[in-house]
Amino acid sequence: MMGFRGIATVAAVLNIVIVTRASERSFDERLQAGTPLLPAGAGKEAVAKFCDDCHGLATTVARRHLSSEWRELLDKMYVNGLSVNDDEDAKIFAYLTDRFGKVDLNNGSVQELRSVLEITKEQADAVIAARPFAVVADLARVSGFDDKKIAALRDRVVITPAKASIKKLF
Ligand code: HEC
Repeated sequence: MMGFRGIATVAAVLNIVIVTRASERSFDERLQAGTPLLPAGAGKEAVAKFCDDCHGLATTVARRHLSSEWRELLDKMYVNGLSVNDDEDAKIFAYLTDRFGKVDLNNGSVQELRSVLEITKEQADAVIAARPFAVVADLARVSGFDDKKIAALRDRVVITPAKASIKKLF
């Protein structure tokens, strides 16, 4: 006769099997359901695969972050139990900083300005030439940035004092 313990063990094993199957099966479904949240880009699959387990993708991409903040967030996720290899980490980091990035108008690189603001190299160069910025609205000084475009980009930019001027202070 199977005692209570035996039944509990079988139930636990069944539970693991069922839960594993359910999450495997639902991965495709979740990929389908979640990908509208994820614009195209290399690394999209890795994010859909690894960043949808403990909380939904909606939490993952709720807000844009600077690349330094994404690095800190990913490191926090490792503490939470995330497990991916270096290659996957690099893909996830590149995707998130590119598609869900923020850029510092006074200190960001040409590449960061281009990918986060989705502008051309010429426009990124023009932004750099117009530094320093005190407020986001100062972008109006750069040709091609009208009020509408600036409003659309507002959640993608931060402004910190230009590094050169910090140096001058000390
Ligand atoms: C093992 C579970 C787990 C996995 C896998 C996981 N997370 Fe999380 N995540 C958490 C927990 C727990 C929280 C809430 C506590 C916290 O902020 O650390 C969270 C919160 C977050 C938040 C909100 C944090 C904030 O302060 O607003 C973001 C963004 C996030 N995760 C991104 C990711 C990304 C990107 C991935 C995939 C690379 C990922 N997570 C994978 C457990 C996980």
